[in-house]
Amino acid sequence: MPVDKPPYNEKTVLRILTWAVSFFVIGTFIGVIGRIGISVPGFIDNITFYRIVTHHPLILVVGWASLAVMGIVHYSIPKISGKPIYSEITGSATMWLTITSTIMLIMGVIPGLNGSTARYSALPPLFHPFFPTMLSLCIALTAVIFYGGNILKTFLTIAEGDKPPHTSAWYFVMSAVLGTLFLGMAGVPLLLQSLAGLFQVDGLDYVYALDPLVNKHLIWWGLHSYVNQMINIGVLGMCYVAIPINVKKGIYSEKGATWGLFLYIIVNNMAYFHHMMMDPIPMWQKVVGQVSTWFLGLTTALSLFNLLKTASGGEKWGVAMKFLVGGLIGFIVEGCIGIFHSTLVVNLFAHNTQAILGYIHATFYSYISMCLLGTIYTIIPDVRGVPLYSEKLGTIHFWTAIFNMTGMVAVLLLAGYSGMPRNVQVVEPYFQPHMAAATAFGIGLWVSTAIGGYNLIMSAWYCPEKRAAKEAALAGSAAAH
Ligand code: HEM
Repeated sequence: MPVDKPPYNEKTVLRILTWAVSFFVIGTFIGVIGRIGISVPGFIDNITFYRIVTHHPLILVVGWASLAVMGIVHYSIPKISGKPIYSEITGSATMWLTITSTIMLIMGVIPGLNGSTARYSALPPLFHPFFPTMLSLCIALTAVIFYGGNILKTFLTIAEGDKPPHTSAWYFVMSAVLGTLFLGMAGVPLLLQSLAGLFQVDGLDYVYALDPLVNKHLIWWGLHSYVNQMINIGVLGMCYVAIPINVKKGIYSEKGATWGLFLYIIVNNMAYFHHMMMDPIPMWQKVVGQVSTWFLGLTTALSLFNLLKTASGGEKWGVAMKFLVGGLIGFIVEGCIGIFHSTLVVNLFAHNTQAILGYIHATFYSYISMCLLGTIYTIIPDVRGVPLYSEKLGTIHFWTAIFNMTGMVAVLLLAGYSGMPRNVQVVEPYFQPHMAAATAFGIGLWVSTAIGGYNLIMSAWYCPEKRAAKEAALAGSAAAH
């Protein structure tokens, strides 16, 4: 039977998601090398270890999380509004720029290619030898700007159209626009610094005159906002799309979703101070950082309640729903750890310890990656019009991810609360069992990620007969029109 052509570009969506999933597998593999490098003396040298510590998160944030959000938005906005993305060419440019940036970041881990070994250091002279890393980040920034403009323009076109946008469209647009804005603000000084470093231009060196504390404010405001606004709001938005598709019922409260977004944006911009609790900032900023993080928890609770209520009582949960609900529960756990750590007295002993790595992985794997995976498990079968390549592999992926990631996060928290610093390759004997356990869980988590990656990529591209049948149906529909 002929079917109508969907408003999204099937190939672009599948391509972006395939690259994102591939970078997820590669980025986590680099993380595993880092983990083994901590547990097995001499496995990698110290410079390679620090390149991994710097590049592994950047590869995953740029190449996995942001690229996946972009792919999901390229599907979801047309899906919920019935209107295509404003510019397909800009969409492809966004994808290729992000891919280029991620490949450069992966290359930066290779010995001799001069990747950065200390991205958090705000001390200006350290930017000089880091040009390849900075250049790749500038390319990623350019991609985000293209993406933000394209999504905003699409949204404005939808607003003039006949079909009112769904609440989640607001989340995506806010994610795109805020991501662009905040990353741009933090990225411009970084771009100037890297250009000054490359060309040794004194005129551009004015950025170096910035007080290191101001520089750190800038970096944290940008980084915190990028993760919390572009990625986090985007992830909540995609949950508002994917959960109703899976359970085949509407959002529990549209008003709750809009209020959740509005309040989140207000408190989020004050919360970045919590990254600087141990820096010489005024007491009022520390108090604002702490209290606004508590409120961030409350606004998030509003969205989580709404999403979990939407998830309950509908169709039976398949693999996609397991990941989505697992990710939302991960968000509750991550949020509780975050609120705990932002409290000044806890921050005194948790700051810069392995506990922060526990928190980071609870955020990026237990919550963000699980929700992204749940949404991708929803989208690929919908775009292809065929079931998943393997439900069984999907279930194995889910349970092995839950087991290994919970183990890794728990061990890192324990090591941190017992006083082991973060970002160190040499381990005191007391912490060797902790690090060995983290390595074992890390390897397990990578195997789980690779199984999921294989299943998703096969679901996206395999099954030639069914694909041919669908294409024939589409061609029939076009001819009938
Ligand atoms: C198999 C899964 C993973 C493994 C084995 C792994 C391993 C590692 C290792 C070894 C480090 C450095 C630890 C140290 O400095 O002592 C690290 C840090 C980090 N990872 Fe992962 N990781 C995994 C997944 C992820 C994912 C999915 C993300 C993000 C989407 C992520 C983001 C980060 C971040 C932000 C840091 C912090 C770097 C820092 O402290 O400066 N990781 N990870």
